[in-house]
Amino acid sequence: MRKPAHGTRGLLILGIETSCDETAAAVVEKGRRVLSSVIASQVADHRPYGGVVPEIAGRKHLENLVSVVQSALDEAGVTPADLGAVAVTSSPGLMGALLVGTSFGKALAMGWGVPLVEVNHLHAHALAINLGARRPRLPFLALVVSGGHTTLFRVSSALDLAILGQTRDDAAGECIDKVAKFLGLGYPGGPEIDRLAAGANPRAVRFTRGLAHAATLDFSFSGLKTAVVNHVLGTSRLDGPLNHQRMPSIPDGELRDLVASFLEAVVDTLVDKTLRAAREHGLSTVVVSGGVAANMRLREKMTAAGKAAGVRVLFPGRELCTDNAAMIAGAAWHQARIGRFAGLDLRPCAKMKTGAC
Ligand code: KG4
Ligand code: ZN
Repeated sequence: MRKPAHGTRGLLILGIETSCDETAAAVVEKGRRVLSSVIASQVADHRPYGGVVPEIAGRKHLENLVSVVQSALDEAGVTPADLGAVAVTSSPGLMGALLVGTSFGKALAMGWGVPLVEVNHLHAHALAINLGARRPRLPFLALVVSGGHTTLFRVSSALDLAILGQTRDDAAGECIDKVAKFLGLGYPGGPEIDRLAAGANPRAVRFTRGLAHAATLDFSFSGLKTAVVNHVLGTSRLDGPLNHQRMPSIPDGELRDLVASFLEAVVDTLVDKTLRAAREHGLSTVVVSGGVAANMRLREKMTAAGKAAGVRVLFPGRELCTDNAAMIAGAAWHQARIGRFAGLDLRPCAKMKTGAC
């Protein structure tokens, strides 16, 4: 990691992220230069359950935070005295997980005598692009697509993000993870689905594209999940009831085509709605972020569709797409600059925070 420039005291922010199943801390200079970014993944702890267990997530954050924060400071080569602020994710996310992170951040801010900044996790995903070499010009359209959210924002400035559309049921990543679980592909399903779909036939099965023809910029993915289940049950050679212990065995080639066709429906939905939003709102730059933005097919199709429509499409680096604390520290910078600090009475909010929680 890069070392802080001389005389940067006060321009450095320590970010802390604990909204879901990654315990992360990072030090970022002036909202742009990532000096360190440490992530302790809990994937192995949740894998036996096939999804994130909120109770375990909270406990693991508590166990990991001290060493993750210490590593972030050490790797950046800074001490608490160099920091201008401590930033914490305060919403949306798992309540127990958020409580651990915000309480820890408050204690650090109080003990070190530095201000506290609260950051919205989705805003941080949308602004993570500013940590890379290719920064978009304002205003831009941001698609945040992760395990918990599928949201389109108009980003007028780093402090002014307006929701244009969002999922009405499952998030895209949630749908991917649930389908992967149903097909026995392990947890989290996204990377495995990405791998299996590569080179397979995305037109083997035609799956529904939720709300494709509706005027809304909202998304819907739960019907697609059901369509995959119905397809597998309808074509299965299984006699007798299906359950998690007893999956139909799908030949390898067929499974890959099925996965590619499913992924194609997710990707087409995301690409079509996003470009429609860009057109309707007169935005010529699209930023795609969140865990699902790491998907190769999405990157490929969004970039090609953007080119055809004359829209610039940008993705943060893959390590900045999935949950991390550098994006929290980066987003916090804009608030710290205008003196928008949180009090020690800060309360986290499981849902998107719109006012007092
Ligand atoms: O942003 P993130 O790390 O956490 C949340 O805030 O939810 O996103 C996690 C989601 C999971 O649903 C995971 O399966 C999905 O991102 N994901 C992917 C890929 N890598 C992660 N989905 C598709 N393709 C990938 N390569
Ligand atoms: Zn996230």
